[in-house]
Amino acid sequence: MRLYRFSKYILAGFITFLVIIFLKIGYYFESKNIEGQTLIAADLYKVISPSTYTFILNQPSACEHNPDLVLLVPVAPGDSESRNAVRKTWGQRDLVPNKTIIQLFFVGVLEGEDNDKSKDALIQENLNYGDIILMDFLDSYHNLTVKTMMMMNWLATYCQSASYVMKIDADIFLNIYYLVNFLPFPAKTNFITGSVINDGAPRRNEQSKWYLSEDVYPDSTFPPYLSGAGYVFSIDLAAKISLASRYVRPIPMEDVYVGLCLKTLGVRPVYGRSMFWLRNLFEVRHLNYDRCTFAKLIIVTDFPPAELLRTWSDFQKESAVC
Ligand SMILES: *[C@@H]1O[C@H](CO)[C@@H](O)[C@H](O)[C@H]1NC(C)=O
Ligand SMILES: *[C@@H]1O[C@H](CO)[C@@H](O)[C@H](O)[C@H]1NC(C)=O
Repeated sequence: MRLYRFSKYILAGFITFLVIIFLKIGYYFESKNIEGQTLIAADLYKVISPSTYTFILNQPSACEHNPDLVLLVPVAPGDSESRNAVRKTWGQRDLVPNKTIIQLFFVGVLEGEDNDKSKDALIQENLNYGDIILMDFLDSYHNLTVKTMMMMNWLATYCQSASYVMKIDADIFLNIYYLVNFLPFPAKTNFITGSVINDGAPRRNEQSKWYLSEDVYPDSTFPPYLSGAGYVFSIDLAAKISLASRYVRPIPMEDVYVGLCLKTLGVRPVYGRSMFWLRNLFEVRHLNYDRCTFAKLIIVTDFPPAELLRTWSDFQKESAVC
């Protein structure tokens, strides 16, 4: 009797194990073959198709020196203050010895009269820095998915010789030293890491900023996706995500959208954790600055330009130890 009960547990454990294995294998094979999937309707794809938009400013040779890391920063056209803060902090050239890191801003256009002024200012700013890519889609919150897909297409077209890309918002503290140490070289493929959200679900309340109707997104959950504040991926994924977008209906949440593309590709986002303590390295909330805490993190969110500049100048003090 006792033996029977014992073996029952073993059997239950074994079956659970098999189920987990099958689910994992299922996930792996489910969508590996993208050709077998259904293309979205042409009018839906048009919104995120690279052929819909044109470049007003481009940096086609930005990647000619095979960068180890490309920092791609989506930012509003009028936000030169944030751009300048990034240029003076983690976006500076030559911060990390023996690593080629480039930094570029990605912007869309404004509506009506504002746009002419904004365009002239951006062209002028770009003469000074040569780091702005401007495309003619409307730069709005609901068009962030368009912006992200244009970034993927830009990388796939002009930057295949890079190793890694980080998509990072401008109002973020980035510990570029830790990041470069954390990334494996030579570069991996099918690799994407950041702060993984595993339990996301669409909001069905029409008042919500993130409302999604069942027509647009029928499933009741989101696949695992990376918080949009900052995530890092191997360059091969740019072209793959661009390709996957032909099969995934656009939704106005860019981070979830990238997650849906990854699911289509059968690529799992990896949680960015420290090696031994498994500490979360992509902090998607604000922390008060503390040099020794920040020295062991990759990003901390919510740094307006002035605070970023102040924090960085302390962080850079070489004499300080932790
Ligand atoms: C950078 O590369 C040079 C030449 O390969 C080497 O001598 C030097 O130690 C490297 N510096 C660092 C900080 O890795
Ligand atoms: C997104 O950009 C396109 C192209 O500029 C524009 O027609 C559309 O109105 C924008 N959508 C939103 C929600 O801003």
